Amino acid sequence: MLKLNVNSADRQVGSAVDTPLLWVLRDELNLTGTKFGCGVAACGACTVHVEGAAVRSCVTPVGSIAGKKVQTIEGLGTTGKNGGLSALQLAWVAHQVPQCGYCQSGVLMAASALLAKNPAPTDADIDKEVTNICRCGTYQRIRAAIHTAAKASADRVAASVTTGGAK
Ligand code: FES
Ligand code: FES
Repeated sequence: MLKLNVNSADRQVGSAVDTPLLWVLRDELNLTGTKFGCGVAACGACTVHVEGAAVRSCVTPVGSIAGKKVQTIEGLGTTGKNGGLSALQLAWVAHQVPQCGYCQSGVLMAASALLAKNPAPTDADIDKEVTNICRCGTYQRIRAAIHTAAKASADRVAASVTTGGAK
């Protein structure tokens, strides 16, 4: 058995060590928000976080991340206030980013990893880090939503400074 921490819960998984993380998440842990697209690290549909970094779970053997923290789309909004949605997810709704929606969990995970290390990314930063493929062509809305989420976070920081600290 391998130990993982998935969405802040300790889990034990029995899959072989060379099983891609994607299939452990979907088939063993029933976390089906993470999608299969290409299986060769090209499309990003399977993107999750491992120790806060965006990784493509279709090419990540589960044995290579034993004991590490994994976050999936199911765990993304639990720290947000507005109905459990994060600032990024609220921006996604406001800009109506998803079309068919299939790629979107992977895009959100890539975007949230980007914002965690770069709170005010430029379009060039977004294009460099969020390389997911969207067959519906939502790239302009993805950029707009990331900028909105970045501004919302910046505004919260400014407000907390004005009021004497974050609550
Ligand atoms: S399914 Fe993993 S990158 Fe396409
Ligand atoms: S929203 Fe349809 S593939 Fe991206």
